Order: sequence, then structure tokens, then C-alpha cells
Amino acid sequence: MSSLGIYRCIDDMRAQVAAWKAEGLRVGLVPTMGALHAGHLSLVEAISQNVDKVIVSIFVNPAQFAAHEDLSTYPRQEAADLAALETTQTDAVFAPTAQEMYPDGFATAIAMDGPALGLESEERPHFFGGVALIVLKLLTQTQTDVAIFGEKDYQQLMVIRRMVADLNLPVEIMAGEIMREADGLAMSSRNVYLNAEQRKIAAQLHVILGQLANHPAGADIIKAEAEAKQALLEAGFTKVDYACIRDAETLGVPNANTRARRALIVARLGDTRLLDNRPAS
Ligand code: PAF
Repeated sequence: MSSLGIYRCIDDMRAQVAAWKAEGLRVGLVPTMGALHAGHLSLVEAISQNVDKVIVSIFVNPAQFAAHEDLSTYPRQEAADLAALETTQTDAVFAPTAQEMYPDGFATAIAMDGPALGLESEERPHFFGGVALIVLKLLTQTQTDVAIFGEKDYQQLMVIRRMVADLNLPVEIMAGEIMREADGLAMSSRNVYLNAEQRKIAAQLHVILGQLANHPAGADIIKAEAEAKQALLEAGFTKVDYACIRDAETLGVPNANTRARRALIVARLGDTRLLDNRPAS
């Protein structure tokens, strides 16, 4: 039995945040889909440096999964998640039901342009509409002062920053650093899907990403991207969705206005998609 405050209803969660704010406290939100790992716990640690009270939301959001994706098998382990959160600075967990979030008759969608175009959207056209919708709902439901998102899902972070700016939402968005296993693999709830052989190959993603990110200044980007793709296939990845260098803010192809660049790779091992990214030269 967890000693954390667990909220299943939007009204109760909002009332708790309002009470904290009435005391002059600053409140932060860590949105998650559960199956928590050290990467999530590092987001709790990071946001807790900036706020007085931390809420972690746990909700596997149906709107961001396509019919053929892993919604039904996505790892769900609430008891273990609550036990892990008890060791952190978490004050409350917001774990609503799907019916609470998407009641009968729900009819609203969000369409986004800009950083939501390309990359993940090529393979998962439904994805950012679903993410933007749930994040907007979580932010308006909880009305926290700050929310944090991991840089591992870099395009997601840029999409959320854009939405928050476009809709003038009164919330500060923090970015959490990517947490890595000892061999460099970015931590992800989906890493549990990898078998022993795939897990060995997976470690190469980080190495090849480093080579792509550090390609010599002035070198041909298209050539560097093609080399990274070839290296991934030779390492044993079954498919490369993308290996590219983009403008770090707009996620468009770098141009004369680009201030910083980002290398991003998504490669597959069987049915498992592995994402990683880092600043590029
Ligand atoms: O990154 C995730 O875990 C999810 O996309 C998020 C932001 C919690 C929305 O469901």
C-alpha cells in the first residue's frame, strides 16, 4: 500500500494543486505513461529542484497509439511504479482512468504543424496529435507552474514547447537530460522488449549517433546521414526509420538561420523502435 497521495479524479487533483498554490507553493508535473525507470526518476529529481510540490501523472494515453501499435501490451505496473516513486521527492500521483480522461462523446482533436512534421510523424502520423491533446489536458487539469519532459523524446519536447507558446499556456517547460545504461543505451520503457541478442546490438545506436553528431563541420550532411544509416544496418538493426541532422529548434533541415543542430536516430530491432538524439556539431 502506497503512502503517496493518489488521485484518480480530475476535480480532486485540481483541488489539491489549488490548495498548494493558495499556500504560495510552486507545483511541478512529471507526465508519464508509467513503467517507470531511472530516466523518469531523474525527471522527478530535476523538477524537484525548481518546485515545492511534485506530481507524477501515470496514464497510458490511447490517443497516441495507432490501432496496430502496442497499447494493449504497453507495460503497466502501477504497484511497482508507486513503490519507485516513494523513494523520490514525489508528493502526489495523478492516475486517472481512460473514462475520466476520454469520457463518452469526447470529440476534440489537436492538429499541429511546425516541429510536429516529419521524423516521428512519417511513421506515426497520429502520434503528436495524441501527445499534444493529453499534455494539454494534463496541464489544464492540474494547472501546475512547471512541467518536465525528457530529451530522449526530443521531437515531443519541441512539439510541446511550440504548443505551450502558441496557446499561451501559463506553464514553464523544463527539459530533462537523457539517462543512459552503462553501455550508453538511452533508457526507455520499451527496452524490456529486447532479447539478449538485440540488447547487445542496441548499444551501437549510441556509438553511431555520436559519429553522426560529430561529423566534421562543413561536411556533406546527406553523406553523413547515409553513412550512419549504413552503419546501423551493418550493426544488425533491422530497419532505420531515420538518421539525420536537423535544426535543433524547428527540426527542419538546417539552414543559414540555424543556431544549433541536433542529430536524431530511430532504428528498429524487430518490432522495437529505439530513439536517441544528441547535440550535433
Ligand atoms: O513521453 C511520454 O511518456 C508520453 O508521450 C507523455 C508525454 C506522458 C504523454 O502521454
